Amino acid sequence: MTAHIAPTAILLSDYTPFSHLIDHVTLHFTLHPLQTRVSARLSLRPNPAAVQGQDLRLDGENLSLLSLALNGKPLAHAPDETGLTIPAADLPNGPFTLETEVEISPQTNTSLDGLYMSNGMYCTQCEAQGFRKITFYPDRPDVMARFDVTMDTDLPTQLSNGNPTGPGAWHDPWPKPAYLFALVAGDLVAHTDHFTTLSGRRVTLNIYTRAGDAHKCAYAMDSLIRSMRWDEQVYGREYDLDIFNIVAVDDFNMGAMENKGLNIFNSKLVLATPDTATDDDYARIEAVIAHEYFHNWTGNRITCRDWFQLCLKEGLTVYRDQQFSGDMRSAPVKRIEDVLALRARQFREDGGPLAHAVRPDSYVEINNFYTATIYEKGAEVIGMLKTLVGDAAYADALNLYFTRHDGHAATIEDWLQVFTDATGHDLTQFKHWYTQAGTPHLTLTDDFKNGTYTLYIKQNNPTTPGQPHKDPKVIPIALGLLSTSGAEVLPTTILTLTQAEHSFEFPNLTAKPIPSALRGFSAPVVLHQTQSNTDRAILLAHDTDAFNKCEAGRALAKSALTDHILHQTPTPHDWLAAITAVTRETTLDPAFRALTLRLPSDDDIAQTLHASGHIPDPAAIHAARRTLQTDLANHLKPHLPSLIAAHQTPGDFSPSAIAAGHRAFRLGLLSLMARIDTAPATHAYQNAKSMTEQLGALAILLDNGMGQPELAQFHAQWQNDRLVMDKWFGLQISMAAPDHAAHITKFLTEHADFDWKNPNRFRAVIASLAANHAGFHHASGQGYALLADWLIKLDPVNPQTAARMSTAFETWPRYDQTRQTLIRNELSRIRQTPNLSRNLGEMLDRMLGA
Ligand code: ARG
Ligand code: ZN
Repeated sequence: MTAHIAPTAILLSDYTPFSHLIDHVTLHFTLHPLQTRVSARLSLRPNPAAVQGQDLRLDGENLSLLSLALNGKPLAHAPDETGLTIPAADLPNGPFTLETEVEISPQTNTSLDGLYMSNGMYCTQCEAQGFRKITFYPDRPDVMARFDVTMDTDLPTQLSNGNPTGPGAWHDPWPKPAYLFALVAGDLVAHTDHFTTLSGRRVTLNIYTRAGDAHKCAYAMDSLIRSMRWDEQVYGREYDLDIFNIVAVDDFNMGAMENKGLNIFNSKLVLATPDTATDDDYARIEAVIAHEYFHNWTGNRITCRDWFQLCLKEGLTVYRDQQFSGDMRSAPVKRIEDVLALRARQFREDGGPLAHAVRPDSYVEINNFYTATIYEKGAEVIGMLKTLVGDAAYADALNLYFTRHDGHAATIEDWLQVFTDATGHDLTQFKHWYTQAGTPHLTLTDDFKNGTYTLYIKQNNPTTPGQPHKDPKVIPIALGLLSTSGAEVLPTTILTLTQAEHSFEFPNLTAKPIPSALRGFSAPVVLHQTQSNTDRAILLAHDTDAFNKCEAGRALAKSALTDHILHQTPTPHDWLAAITAVTRETTLDPAFRALTLRLPSDDDIAQTLHASGHIPDPAAIHAARRTLQTDLANHLKPHLPSLIAAHQTPGDFSPSAIAAGHRAFRLGLLSLMARIDTAPATHAYQNAKSMTEQLGALAILLDNGMGQPELAQFHAQWQNDRLVMDKWFGLQISMAAPDHAAHITKFLTEHADFDWKNPNRFRAVIASLAANHAGFHHASGQGYALLADWLIKLDPVNPQTAARMSTAFETWPRYDQTRQTLIRNELSRIRQTPNLSRNLGEMLDRMLGA
């Protein structure tokens, strides 16, 4: 990928199979906060597929080795900084056992990687390379073994992978790589249910939490049961153990982890009650519970050969969880939300210094590659594959994948071969999607002559770091044509691009049609087309494709915003009239109307301006957005009170997508109303029946410079609920006026409850500053300096979270010289910190283009 990180880079091209196979692993843990002992017994034999006569190299970090024996005979080899080598001369040619005993200190492990403690509970996170902090082991995904685990502790709940064989004793019958190992010990309570699989296996389902949280697991459990049924019905995949355990942990770097039979979750993705969790929280819980469960097949039964293949499990599993959520909720609304998130996170990444291929071929620190590109673009690539081969062929290919590779550590080549074998498609060119970074830009032009409509499409693949040359990609374009009266004259048709330029002809038309291109967002590309506002309004009113219908509204809003920013053009009546019509159209799903009402974010506008060759001014973007909102509010004013009243959700709380859609739409309307009068939002806050309404109303008040009494009331009400307090911290910063954002952030970092070592709390404060576009990019540079200070402070404690948060700076090339210099100076200042982690060091080098 890049030459500049060569010194310590790991290369895909260097892959070789491991010297040995491990048939069995026995682990015993004597748990102690500062002196945990781990005894490991590995049954090894030479790997017939590897070069014979190699040394045995085991990974190990921060382990004190107490004893080492081979076939029962003590060895004296000493480990180095990163592991332990047993020279070939000391190894038998056939099977042997290796026993080690090490001591580790979970209490002082603040990295939350390996074995660590969270509120008195022991837990683990081993993906990608945490197992090497637990014992000496070949910590790579292609070494798969059966594990037996026992533990000694006074804590009552003692969990590991597989099926229980006695108190604190577990046997996992499925061979697995070390990254799927997990152990939990704590004083926990279980929320229990059962699921009977397709073939009649009765599986016990447990969600473990701290005692006070036991009543918050019902929705996660319901989501799990629906996921298990869906994977049987849609992919024919059945669960394969007697028990499935989930544990909620307060201190967790990521969302969740798919350890075999023992998923470990960030508590914010498990715990929900109507008064503490928002509708977005409910939707994310459902999606992530499904995601981790689906990994049991796409990830665990079939894993990755090496970490370059990460998208093999993550792209596919995201694709599956998106399908699931679409089936559980509204598929069109889910698709619109997924695309907005893809553009906000992945296009942003793909267009900057951190761009990398869906399958990279080089990395320094693998934990830096759990990105929107690997996950979300990885999922889009699978969606395109399905569009290209068709639904039935996709199902055949997946069945072949599961039968051919079950129990294997596979590659992207294996995955594509399955599609070729099952469907006959040659995917040589399609593979560029995996190996070449960057978002393709498509330019559409057209003409109409003698009854024939011609569409010209050009593709351009911008260069990315380390990849100056790109080949044209295979791009499926879902196209429909509408007449100027809004009738569909061509239903959705797939055009497949393979070259840099194409033209497509549509004969026998009576008038020039309006193209509806890239329906359903059929490929992750940026589309450039000259559309009149009249055509956009026709598409918004009449397109049969929900995605493009919504997209037409966004295109209207975006051109209104950019025209206002660049040319001070007043808010166009076309847009006001078109949005008003959709807002009042009662046959449309309220969730859809809520999405149409939402203006593009400041960061989205900055991205759009940059893509069209302008330098975004954060303050001007912010001001333009507010002006348009106010104009829309005034235009909609006569209708707002009745619409707000009509979307009050009656009766008991339901987390359903329909009820959530009403709440989202009503909050969107209240937010517009607050541009004229904040009293309805105050009233909504006081009468809120759910966290969605309480937090939503508070956000509206803060956005309009009000809400101080409500903020105090909220604190008094929720000060003992960690997850709700994260929202209290975050909202004040994300809603802060640009001039105050850095100051409020600094003030909150001095709050007694700012526990910066907790990743959720750190993100609530620091990531909210980064998300406040005009505040973070304030001309003073205070936002940049504050983020840099906190990255320097967090890095020695938790390098993974520090590195992840540093991506707030990835958009620096978009901005003016002054801001670029301010950011680059902060990046260099962080880079000069002594003993910087490999995680943060790699991110800074890539962002600085070193
Ligand atoms: N495999 C997990 C998931 O997507 C994520 C683990 C990320 N861990 C990390 N250290 N980067 O479901
Ligand atoms: Zn995953």
